[in-house]
Amino acid sequence: MKFRIIFAGCGDIAFRWLDHIMKRDDCEIIAIVEKNPARAENYQKRYNFTCPIYDSLEEAIAKEKGNLIIDLTYVTVHHDIVTAALRAGYDVLGEKPMGFTVDQVNDMLKAVDETGHRYIVMQNRRYIEQVKKIRELVLSGVMGAPSYLCGEIFVCADMASIRNRFEYPQLQDNNIHSFDLARYLVDGTPKSVHYHSFNPKGSLYTGDGAGDAVFEFDNGCIYSFRGYNGAEGCYTSWDNVWRVNCERGSIVWDGFGDAHYEYTEHSGDFFKGIPYISGTIKRPETVRDQHDGALEDMFDALKTGRKAGTECKDNIKSIAMVLASVKSIKENRKVEIEFNDTYPYLVLK
Ligand SMILES: NC(=O)c1ccc[n+]([C@@H]2O[C@H](COP(=O)([O-])OP(=O)(O)OC[C@H]3O[C@@H](n4cnc5c(N)ncnc54)[C@H](O)[C@@H]3O)[C@@H](O)[C@H]2O)c1
Repeated sequence: MKFRIIFAGCGDIAFRWLDHIMKRDDCEIIAIVEKNPARAENYQKRYNFTCPIYDSLEEAIAKEKGNLIIDLTYVTVHHDIVTAALRAGYDVLGEKPMGFTVDQVNDMLKAVDETGHRYIVMQNRRYIEQVKKIRELVLSGVMGAPSYLCGEIFVCADMASIRNRFEYPQLQDNNIHSFDLARYLVDGTPKSVHYHSFNPKGSLYTGDGAGDAVFEFDNGCIYSFRGYNGAEGCYTSWDNVWRVNCERGSIVWDGFGDAHYEYTEHSGDFFKGIPYISGTIKRPETVRDQHDGALEDMFDALKTGRKAGTECKDNIKSIAMVLASVKSIKENRKVEIEFNDTYPYLVLK
C-alpha cells in the first residue's frame, strides 16, 4: 500500500512528521497546503519537494488525487480540515488536540462513522518506553488496583502562534498530553472533573496559563493534575512528573530518568515493616523520538486495518478531559463526562 499524502500545515512541528515520512518507502507527499507561503517554501527547500503548494485544502482536494491527509494546523482549524478530508474520501492523521469544542469533536466522529474513513490523533508521549512499562506494571495487577495518580508539569513556553492567545493557553493546547497519559497509565476513562484555573504572576499569556484539577476515572482512580506554564526555574519534564498509588504499592517517575516502584504482597505490610519488593524501570540508553513510535503505529494501523492506540474514538476520551475542564472553569463546578457509541459521542453535564 502506498500513501499519497496531502500535507496541511508547515509549522514548528512539521519536521518531526516529515523526518519520519521521508525515511519511509510507502509515502509520497503529493501536495502541501499552507496559509503562510514562507512557511511552505521553507519546508519545500528543506526536503527538496517538487509538489505543488496550495493555500486551501479544498483546492488541493479538487486538483490532486491522494488517499491520506496529514493535518498539522492548530486546534481551532482541525475540525474544518479533518471533516473536509474525511468527506472527500481521505483517511486523516493529525496533531493533537482533536478539537476546540464539544460540537466540533462530535461532528468529527460523525464524519468518521458516516464515511467509514479513519482519523488517528498524535499522542506521542504514549510511545515513551518508561510510560509503556509503568502502564504494564500497573495493569499487571501485582500492586492491586490503581487508586491515585498525580501528574505535574511546570514549564515555560512561547508557543509562537495563535495558541498563545487562547483563553486557557496551556489547557486548550498542551494539557491533552498530560490527560491522555493519565488515562493510558491507569487504563481509565474520565467520569468527571473539577478544574481551578489561574494566570501565574509574571505570565507570558493574557489567558490563564496554569491550573489545578481533580478527575475521577471509571475504574475508581483519582487523577490530580497540576499544570503551570510560566515557571521561572526548576522546570519539570514536558512528559510530566508522575506518581501512581495502587492498593499495595506505588510507582514514581520524574519524567526524565529511571522510574522506581515499591510494593508488598498484602495490604498493610509496609506499615508492619514486612519486607517489600522494589525495583527500577531504567531509562533506555537511547531514547527514541516519540513521534517515530507514534507514526509507526499510525501507518501500521492504516495498512493492516487494526485500531491504532490513538484512534479518534479513543482520543475523544482525552479531549473530553480538556473540554470538560473548560466547562468546569466557566461554571465553577464539577462537570460530569459521558460517552455514547453513537452521536452525540460526548456529552458534558
Ligand atoms: N505532539 C507534540 O508534541 C506537539 C508539539 C508541538 C505542537 N503540536 C501540535 O501541532 C499542531 C501544530 O503546531 P505548530 O507548533 O506546528 O503550530 P504552528 O502555529 O507553528 O503551525 C501551524 C501552521 O498551520 C498553518 N495553518 C493554519 N490554518 C491553516 C489552514 N486552514 N490551512 C493550511 N495551513 C494552515 C499556519 O499558517 C501554520 O504555519 C498544533 O495542534 C499543536 O498543538 C504537537
